[in-house]
Amino acid sequence: MLHGKRVLLIVSGGIAAYKSLELIRRLRERGAAVRCVLTRGGAQFVTPLSLSALSEDKVYTDLFSLTDEAEMGHIQLSRDADLLLVVPASADILAKMAQGLADDLATTALLATDKEVMVAPAMNVRMWTHPATQANLETLRARGVHFVGPAEGDMACGEFGPGRMAEPDEIADAVSDFFESSAPLAGRRALVTSGPTHEPIDPVRYIANRSSGRQGHAIAAALARRGAQTTLVSGPTNLPDPGGVEVVRVESARDMLEACEKALPADVAVCAAAVADWRVARAANEKLKKNGAGAPTLEMAENPDILATLSATANTRPALVVGFAAETENVVEHATAKRERKGCDWILANDVSPSTGTFGGEDNTIHLVSADGVEDWPRMSKSDVAERLADRIVAALGAAE
Ligand code: C5P
Repeated sequence: MLHGKRVLLIVSGGIAAYKSLELIRRLRERGAAVRCVLTRGGAQFVTPLSLSALSEDKVYTDLFSLTDEAEMGHIQLSRDADLLLVVPASADILAKMAQGLADDLATTALLATDKEVMVAPAMNVRMWTHPATQANLETLRARGVHFVGPAEGDMACGEFGPGRMAEPDEIADAVSDFFESSAPLAGRRALVTSGPTHEPIDPVRYIANRSSGRQGHAIAAALARRGAQTTLVSGPTNLPDPGGVEVVRVESARDMLEACEKALPADVAVCAAAVADWRVARAANEKLKKNGAGAPTLEMAENPDILATLSATANTRPALVVGFAAETENVVEHATAKRERKGCDWILANDVSPSTGTFGGEDNTIHLVSADGVEDWPRMSKSDVAERLADRIVAALGAAE
């Protein structure tokens, strides 16, 4: 199905625009998240309110809107999507796409995207058969744009012939087929750890560390989107469950290890959790009380190293085990040593020295350390790190076959 898939639906002008409302429902029933861009022409046929109510998201209409651009720039709109879907695709928007024009938000997003594009043309039969339109279609097909329909049939204008837009179910089927064929990790299993762990002191207190879980959750989502059957073992976070991912919630490091071992076998394991190194050796069964005898002394015990344990698992070791390392100095040297110590295949070394602004920030500066050497990634957002890592995992698992 379409769980975890994000579709940017561009609704251009045409009487068939009313069918885009039904399409949103069909796509969401299958599990996709739908975000809409409405062109000026499209807004003559359907209202932003209808699209917004059905998609349960904001509708984007204006390229030069300060609020739209501040909240979600036109580049980010397509970056956040797995597929751009133009329904209906009028003769006009197809012509603009073929020419590379970008005079509104929809066409700008279409020109700025590096994602796949699918269109459902809808127009009068004479517009469809016009040599200008046919030449545009040829150009777009040659560029890899996917087409669904049009069908032959009665038209709103009273004529008959090709140009009638495909029905919502047919378009939803085409979207499902597209994702099925573009799921390079289909049949693979992935395990991801994320978030902090909480180590109990007594029933109400715990030791933890600062970790939002954002990076680990984004990686699980990116692997699931590529078709992997993904288990996310997560310590306590405030994040929503990523779509299409089986989430196992745990508290302590020992619970996390147990859940990870249960999730094996897996083809790839990514340990992004910030696991507590130590726990309180004997957590109290009752709340510790102030008894006038001063503060209690907590005896600590070492927690299992999940990354090292998974890397050393006999029989069921994942083909690829990936860990993270946050370093403030000699980033690559320390990460290289950590890779060897832990026995994993890759370490994503994260430069968290104050000059990078990584701590508390949105972006990460990553060096991928593997047996083949070091790959320096440009500074990018955590979700882009997840996408790039997932693509590298696809390539590595493919090459290992
Ligand atoms: O040793 P250090 O905590 O710097 O290593 C970080 C890497 O090891 C991360 O991938 C983290 O998820 C993993 N790790 C783990 N279990 C631990 C400690 C760290 O899986 N107990």
